Amino acid sequence: SRVVIKLSGKVFSGEDGSEIKKYASMLASLSAKVQPVVVAGGGKVARHYISIARGFGLDEASLDIMGIEVSRLNAKLLIAALGEKAHPAVPEDLEQVTEAAASGKIVVAGGLHPGQSTNATSALIAEKVGAARFVNATDVDGIYDSDPRKNKDARRYSEITTKQCRDLLAGESSMAGGYDLMDIVALKVIERSKIPTVVIKSEPAVIKDVILKNRAAGTRIVSV
Ligand code: UTP
Ligand code: MG
Repeated sequence: SRVVIKLSGKVFSGEDGSEIKKYASMLASLSAKVQPVVVAGGGKVARHYISIARGFGLDEASLDIMGIEVSRLNAKLLIAALGEKAHPAVPEDLEQVTEAAASGKIVVAGGLHPGQSTNATSALIAEKVGAARFVNATDVDGIYDSDPRKNKDARRYSEITTKQCRDLLAGESSMAGGYDLMDIVALKVIERSKIPTVVIKSEPAVIKDVILKNRAAGTRIVSV
């Protein structure tokens, strides 16, 4: 079966390749049991480009495209770390994702289309490849009722409905570089196709246990 794994751009922001290598080893071992279809985020490099170009007055769609290009570059790094285990090309639309997945190898994509984040892209990819699960690995360990980086009393949901999630998102921005944990497009897709989704802390061991041992971690998103 296939599993879509969104990797936060943070994974690619290290000074050297050691972090990326850890993820590559984890993915290689997962690939003995499931076919990982990975989506790389843009991380701080994407935000760097976006903020500079926004200062020059570039429009939001073009800024999104810059973010997509950085996420694709991150995807190429992971493909390089995976070597033979990975499909060699970064798919650039959903049909290319399907073709890449048909190879049976680990697929690594970046963003696909402006106006959304890699979370929405991941949900669409999960829908398209018929993924058994969508694992969203991020820098916080789940979805909270308020921002845990700002509010120490913030509480984590172990389970949340897509509707509750939409209410939480209502006040969020959707500017290039600024999309957060989930966005509306991602939620709509998860909801319509009832894709079992979990938001977890991005750590190779956690991702592996959640996928192979069905370990309960982070926040489960339930479609209603
Ligand atoms: P993300 O915001 O999804 O990557 O993509 P990230 O910030 O590394 O992920 P997290 O937040 O750590 O989990 C970077 C930017 O690229 C553009 C958006 O502007 C996004 O903010 N993008 C990405 C798109 O426009 N379309 C896509 O399909 C993906
Ligand atoms: Mg982001």
